[in-house]
Amino acid sequence: MTFESVLPLIEDALLTSKEQARVLYAFVQEQQPQEILELGTASGATAVLMADAQGNGCNRRVTTLDRKHCLARKPNVHEVIARTPFGDQIDVRLAHRSYLWELGQLLKEHGSSGSPNPPYDFVFMDGAHTWDIDGFAFYLVDQLLRPGGWILFDDVHWTLAGSPSTPPGLLTEVGPEEASTAQVKQILHLLVKPHPSYGPVEERGNWAWVQKLDGEGTSSAPIETAYKQRGVKDDLVALLKKLIGR
Ligand SMILES: C[S@@+](CC[C@H](N)C(=O)[O-])C[C@H]1O[C@@H](n2cnc3c(N)ncnc32)[C@H](O)[C@@H]1O
Repeated sequence: MTFESVLPLIEDALLTSKEQARVLYAFVQEQQPQEILELGTASGATAVLMADAQGNGCNRRVTTLDRKHCLARKPNVHEVIARTPFGDQIDVRLAHRSYLWELGQLLKEHGSSGSPNPPYDFVFMDGAHTWDIDGFAFYLVDQLLRPGGWILFDDVHWTLAGSPSTPPGLLTEVGPEEASTAQVKQILHLLVKPHPSYGPVEERGNWAWVQKLDGEGTSSAPIETAYKQRGVKDDLVALLKKLIGR
């Protein structure tokens, strides 16, 4: 399929902008990661997009993690996947409380820390966006990502205070500094950039891309290619939409 042909199947479930969805699709199509891990399924729109962009070669899979309560979404992930031919390619794993537990399960399945064969080629981190959850998730993901693989972080500028879905009680509980800090950005600055296993962080709008080193040097060429049909204007529009909460 193509981006234009898969879009109508997921448009009512899409939580990211079409412009960003197109970049994600182009990146996966170009890089052909065999094993993709997604943190944050929601209604499954980006899981379906990535599965379509992977093509239908054998041994391709998207493993997507969320909480069981995401099934209350309309449409839910299983309904969205049922519209597509990718039922066997997408592994939906829903935790009771947090994907941190499921990441532990994946570590058990694929060998614990230091495994010589980490399974994933690309990880899309689009879940909690908080320091405590995704800071730890980054270290777990690192154990599961092969050298040369990529991580994409969503919502670099997101804050608890700026999010319409943050319960007011939580803002009081965390205090003003934690509420107003862009926590994904803090994860990038304090954990990812200084990490000796990763190349430079490429920030584009509210997304940030980073490649795990494999001894052959890193290149931003795959990111350039994925964005090449888009202009700065698209990035700004996407960022503004996020900032005003739509
Ligand atoms: C922005 S949505 C994901 C959107 C999806 N990637 C897309 O673009 O179609 C974020 C999702 O992360 C999930 N999430 C947030 N924190 C989580 C956690 N600790 N464990 C599991 N899922 C979590 C939420 O339930 C929500 O469905």
